[in-house]
Formats: sequence, structure tokens, C-alpha cells
Amino acid sequence: MTGLITMDDLTNEAILEVLDDAERLLPVARGDTYLPLLQGKILGNLFFEPSTRTRMSFETAMKRLGGDVVNLGDVKTSSVVKGETLYDTIQMVDGYTDIIAMRHPRQGAAQYAQDSARVPVLNGGDGAGHHPTQTMLDLFTIRQAHGSLEGLKVVLAGDLRYGRTVHSLSHALTRFGCELVLASPNLLRMPREIVEDLTAHGATVTETEDLLGSIDEADVVYMTRIQKERFADEDEYTKVAGAYKLHANNLEGAKASMIIMHPLPRVDEIHPSVDSTRHARYFEQAFNGVVARMALLCRLLGVSVPTDVPQGGEA
Ligand code: NCD
Repeated sequence: MTGLITMDDLTNEAILEVLDDAERLLPVARGDTYLPLLQGKILGNLFFEPSTRTRMSFETAMKRLGGDVVNLGDVKTSSVVKGETLYDTIQMVDGYTDIIAMRHPRQGAAQYAQDSARVPVLNGGDGAGHHPTQTMLDLFTIRQAHGSLEGLKVVLAGDLRYGRTVHSLSHALTRFGCELVLASPNLLRMPREIVEDLTAHGATVTETEDLLGSIDEADVVYMTRIQKERFADEDEYTKVAGAYKLHANNLEGAKASMIIMHPLPRVDEIHPSVDSTRHARYFEQAFNGVVARMALLCRLLGVSVPTDVPQGGEA
């Protein structure tokens, strides 16, 4: 069965269907409605790299829908330390579960897992590769704020070289006709093959080092953390650490409707003064991970989300 490895696994129509399902599931995510659509189903959470939001929101999504979760747990206390290969781990978890969510430090690992699994695999991040479930919650958050995905001007800022969230998101936004501004230090520019893919899809893409000068025109400013763990050379990291720091003072000329997003965790790229501005959306964005993942789990498990989910109280 096919899972979700990159955004190419979903057509635009499928993306919009998942976003509509996610919207209907909001009362379930809030705990106002109990809707056990996934009762009897088991998700295998295989996180070979640190994770808070992705792992916990997958788990919350599954449990709010009446399903269950088994966890690989800490890699250090699993058989991985005895030298078990990813292939063998997948073969085994495949038999224990109905669907797998996986994060791995190696780019391409999620595709490799899907090729050797019978159950669908959801890529929760493969090295500096892709992070499509994050993209679904990002798109949900953008649509919630702007009513549509079409034709927005989106600034993607920070570590565009190693940031997997922006690799997946830039591709999806392009498919909905967004204009992209890629703001990064020179060392952390978006990989050439991704920029070529975006322009081949007809996107208007501008690359700049000037984040602050790009804010006033933007509908969305998407900040990212510099991915320290992906640098081969610590000195290179030191050169770019702290390159972008957004402060509330920088937002005075922004459109009233502009939203600031961040996949989190943040380090120092968004000052806490931004949190209380009308623009901050990153905590709602993290909450939206639950509905987006609920909708994806249902879709990949072949369970349809009813169009009339009760908005609270009795299910
Ligand atoms: C991101 C990731 O793991 O790629 N986090 C997340 O899933 N919310 C971003 C990051 O770690 O900087």
C-alpha cells in the first residue's frame, strides 16, 4: 500500500480533500466530540531522531480517533543498538501494525521503508529530505488564515538548505500558484534541484538574503531553525547561527493579515515579543498537526471522515 513519502504522493485534489476532512475533525482534536473512526487500528511510531510535535500529534490523532499506538521508544533502548537493520525493523513492525509513522536521519529512508513494508508509511521527516505531514498542517494553517491557498506571497526564511519542512512546503505551495520568496544566508540557500523543480512548475521564485525587506509584501512568513545537527562542520554552523532574528519591531509595516509560522522548535529566530502580536500563528500551527494527521491516517487506512461530524457534545 502506498503511504505519504513526498508531496508528489498527493494530487492537489487529494490535498484539498484532506484539508476539508481535517477541518471537520477540529472538534474531535479539541476533545469536544469522540469519534472512534480508527478503533481497532494500530499505528507504529518509529522515530529514529528526536521529535516532540510530530510523534505526539500522531499519537494524539490516533487516540482521539479510538485507535492505538505502539512506539519504538528511545532508539538507545531498542534493538537498533544491537545492530538491527532498518529493513528488519520494518519487517517486524509491519506485522504488528496497520500503519507506520517514521522519522529517520537518512534522506531516502522513508521511501526505503515503504518499499519493504505492506502497510502505508507516513514520512515524519527523512534527514534533510522531506516532511510531507508537516506540509499538510502548514497548508491547513495557511488556508485557515487566508481562506485559500491560491496566489499568496510566501516568504520561506532561514535554513532552506537542510530544512526538510521547507523542501516539502515550497513544492506544495508552487502547485497552488503561490509566489515564493526564499530568504536565507548564502550558505543555506535552497538546493538548486529544488529551485529548478519549483520554476519548472511555473513558480515565481525570488532568492534573497534580506528577510526584513521581504516582510511588508508577504501574506505568510515561514521561519525555520538552523538545522545544527546536519552540519558536517561546526565552524560553518557558527558562521550562520543567529542569522535571522525576528522581533515584534520588525513587523510594523506588515499587512494586518500576514501570519508568521514556524514548524518549531525555535531557537532564537523568533523573539518572544512576536508571540503576542496578531501575526503569530506557530502554536495554532502545532495544534493543527493533530487534525492534519487525523485526516491523513483516515485516508491512508481507507476510512472516510463523515461530512457531519458533531461540533461538540455527543458523537
Ligand atoms: C521540524 C523537523 O523535525 O524537521 N520539526 C517538526 O517536525 N515540527 C523542524 C525542525 O526540527 O527544525
